[in-house]
Amino acid sequence: MKRIMLAAMAVAAVSFAVACGGNTAAPKGNQPAAAARPETPADFKDKKNALNGNADAIKAGEGLFKAQCASCHGNEADGNSDAGKALKPQAGNLRAADFQAMSDGYIYWRITKGGIGANISGSAMQAFETNLSEDQRWQVIAYLRSLSAK
Ligand code: HEC
Repeated sequence: MKRIMLAAMAVAAVSFAVACGGNTAAPKGNQPAAAARPETPADFKDKKNALNGNADAIKAGEGLFKAQCASCHGNEADGNSDAGKALKPQAGNLRAADFQAMSDGYIYWRITKGGIGANISGSAMQAFETNLSEDQRWQVIAYLRSLSAK
C-alpha cells in the first residue's frame, strides 16, 4: 500500500514538473477567449479599417507599433516580451487567431480607450486617444492585420 502511494506521488510530481515547464516555455499571453472579451461599445463596433491591406499604412503602422506597443506586446506582436508577460493581466499575443477574429471596431476601441475604457481591472494597457491620431491607430491595425498567425 505504502509503495503504491509513493509511486502515485512520484507520478504526480513528474506531471506537475512537466506542466510547469510547459507554462514557462509558452510565449503566449494569458488572453481571454474571443467570447470572453468585453463587448464593443455601440459607437465603435461598426467601425472598419479602410487601410487594411494598404502597403504604406502597414509600413507606417509597423514603425508606430515598434515604438509604442512592442515594449509590452513583443517586437513581433506575439506577446513575447518579458515586461508584457510580467503584467497582470499579461499583454497578449496580437497575432493569435482568437484575437484576429475580433472586429476592427473592437481593436480600434481597445487602442483608443485602453484598459480603463474597457473596465479591465489592473490593466496596464493605456489609452492612445491622445498619443496617436485616428489615422495612426488605423495604421497600427493595418499592420496587425498583415501579420501571420503565431
Ligand atoms: C504598458 C504596456 C502596454 C503597452 C505599451 C501597450 N499595451 Fe496593449 N495591452 C497591455 C495589456 C497588459 C493588455 C491586456 C489587458 C487589457 O486587455 O486591457 C493589453 C491589451 C491590448 C489589446 C486587447 C487585446 C485582447 O486580447 O483583446 C489590444 C488590441 C492592444 N493591447 C493593443 C495595443 C497597441 C496597438 C499598442 C500600441 C499602440 C499597445 N497595445 C500598447 C499592455 C500594453
